[in-house]
Amino acid sequence: MKCLAAISSLVAFVVFSALCVAGYTVKSIDDEAVRVNLDLSHVSRVVNERFLSVAIDASLIAEEKFMNLLNSPKLRTLAKALIPAFLRFGGTKQDFIKFKPQGKYLHAGDNRNSSLPYKDLCEKLELPPLLENKLKQEWVLQSKILLQEEARGKFQKAKFSEYAIDLLYTFANCSGLDLIFGLNALLRTSENSWDSTNAELLLKYCASRQYAMSWELGNEPNSYEKKAGIRVDGYQLGKDFVHLQQILQESSLYNSTGLYGPDVGQPRNHRKDLLTGFLEAGAEAITACTWHHYYVNGRGASLEDFLDPVVLDSLATKINEVFKTVESVSPGKKVWLGETSSAYGGGAVGLSDTFAAGFMWLDKLGLGAKLGLDVIIRQVLIGSGTYHLVDDNLDPLPDYWLSLLYKKLVGPEVLKAEVLTNVRTKKQIRVYLHCTNRKSTHYKQGAVTLFALNLNKGQVAINLPTQIGNSTIEAFVLQAPEPGKQNLHSRSVKLNGEVLKMADDHTLPNIKGSVLPPGEPIRLPGFSLGFYVMTEAQATACR
Ligand SMILES: *[C@@H]1O[C@H](CO)[C@@H](O)[C@H](O)[C@H]1NC(C)=O
Ligand SMILES: *[C@@H]1O[C@H](CO)[C@@H](O)[C@H](O)[C@H]1NC(C)=O
Ligand SMILES: *[C@@H]1O[C@H](CO)[C@@H](O)[C@H](O)[C@H]1NC(C)=O
Repeated sequence: MKCLAAISSLVAFVVFSALCVAGYTVKSIDDEAVRVNLDLSHVSRVVNERFLSVAIDASLIAEEKFMNLLNSPKLRTLAKALIPAFLRFGGTKQDFIKFKPQGKYLHAGDNRNSSLPYKDLCEKLELPPLLENKLKQEWVLQSKILLQEEARGKFQKAKFSEYAIDLLYTFANCSGLDLIFGLNALLRTSENSWDSTNAELLLKYCASRQYAMSWELGNEPNSYEKKAGIRVDGYQLGKDFVHLQQILQESSLYNSTGLYGPDVGQPRNHRKDLLTGFLEAGAEAITACTWHHYYVNGRGASLEDFLDPVVLDSLATKINEVFKTVESVSPGKKVWLGETSSAYGGGAVGLSDTFAAGFMWLDKLGLGAKLGLDVIIRQVLIGSGTYHLVDDNLDPLPDYWLSLLYKKLVGPEVLKAEVLTNVRTKKQIRVYLHCTNRKSTHYKQGAVTLFALNLNKGQVAINLPTQIGNSTIEAFVLQAPEPGKQNLHSRSVKLNGEVLKMADDHTLPNIKGSVLPPGEPIRLPGFSLGFYVMTEAQATACR
C-alpha cells in the first residue's frame, strides 16, 4: 500500500511538473521560473487582527487648527476602509507638548452635541470643502516648517486644548480606529522621575468625555539626550510606566486599557541596554513592547535600496535581536513595531510616497508576521514628510492602496511559504502566505492568500505545488502606471491594469480580482506586488 501510494504521488508529481514546464515554456519562453512550497496544513502563528495599523504624527497638533483636517470626509472614508486598526498619535513632538485645558468644555455649558449619538455626530462634524482647501494649502507650508525643525533637531514646545483632543478622538471613533495616545515623558521632576501632573489632567478630561482609548508614554527615549539634553535610563522609564499604570488603574474607564511602550529606536548598542532595563522594571505594566524601525536614512536613500533584498532582510536581524531581549526578560510579551516606515528623517523624497515604497511596506508586513510581530504601526496616515499614505490633497498614495488590499485579502493566520528554486531570481522573488481574510471577503472557508514581490525587472513564473494547482486563483497585481524602472517613482498605481482612484470623497473604487487560467503558473510581472487568493485551496488550517 505504502509503496503504491508513493508511486502514484511520484507519478502525479512528474505529470504535474511536466505540465507546468510545458505550460510555461510554450507560453512565455523568456520568463524565469521559480517553484514555491506552501504548507496549508497548519497555522504557524496568528497575529493581531489590527496587525496593519496606522499613525498620525503628533506634530499635527503643534498648531491646533490643523487637527481640523481630521474632519475631512475624504480622510474619514480612507480611514474607515482600513479597520480594524489602531491609530497611534505620537512621535517626537509628543514629548514636547502639554495639555492646557481652556476650561470652556469642562463645565456645565458643554452641550456641544454631546447628547447626539456618535453616529449622528460623525456626520455633523464634517469639514466644509472651503475650509478644507484652505487648511490643506496652509498645511503644505506647516509641513516644511516641521521638517526643518526635525532636521535641526531642536523642538519647539507647544500646548493643546480639549478642542484638539475632541477632534482626534472624534476622527478615531467615527472611522472605527482604536486610538492610542502618546503621553509626554519629558515632563520630569527634579529627581528625574516622570511628572504625571499634566497627564492626569488629560486623563481626567478624556474620562469625563468617556473617550475609550489606550496609552503610551514617551517616544524614542534613547535619543532624549540628543533631543532635549535629558538622560533617562531604561530602569527609570520602566518605573515611570509602573507609575502610569497605577494612575490608569484608579480610573474606572482606563483600569483595563492598553499601555504600550517603550517605543525605542531599533537595536543599536545602548538601546538594547535601555530596552533590557525598561523591561526589568516595567514589563508588568505594559500590554505590548514597542520599538521603531526604518530601513534607511531618507537623505541619500536610492531606488536601489528600496529594491535590495539585503536591505529588506536587515529587518529580520533587528526583529530577532529585539525578540532575544524580550524573551530573556519577559518571555511571551507581545512585540509591536510601534512606529515604522521606509526611511527616517521624514522619508526619502521621490521614493517614500511613490510606488517604490510598496516593496519595503509589503515585505515588512510579510516578514513581520512571519517572524512573530503582533502589530505594525505605519508612520503615517497623514502628516509631514514623505512617508504618508495620503498626499497634500488627502488623496491616497500607492502605499494606501497596498494597505487596503492587504486589509481586504490577508487574514491574521500566518502559513509557511518559501521559494524553492535556486536560481538567480530567488532573493528577488519574495512570497508570504496567510489564510484569506474571512471577515472582509466572501471567499470560501479554506481559502489562502499568497502575496508576492518581484524586485526584478523581468516577469517571473511561479509554479505552485500540486495540491493547489487546480484551485481558482483571483489575482490582484499592483504595478506602476507605466513600465520601466523610472516609473517606480510614480505617485499612482495600477491594479490589474487600471489606475486606482476614489470615485468621490465618500466612495472607494470596487476592488476586483482577475481570475487566472487554472493549472498554470502565476505570472508575476517585473517590479510588481501581487496578491493571489486561492479560493479553493481548502487549507485545513484556514477553516
Ligand atoms: C465610539 O464611541 C462609542 C460611543 O461612546 C463607543 O461605543 C465605541 O466603542 C467607540 N468606538 C471606537 C472605535 O472607539
Ligand atoms: C474597573 O472599574 C470598574 C468600575 O469601577 C469595575 O467595575 C471593574 O471591575 C474594574 N476592572 C478592573 C479590571 O479592575
Ligand atoms: C484537479 O481537477 C481534476 C478535474 O476536476 C480532478 O480529477 C483532480 O483530482 C484535481 N486534482 C487535485 C490535486 O485536486
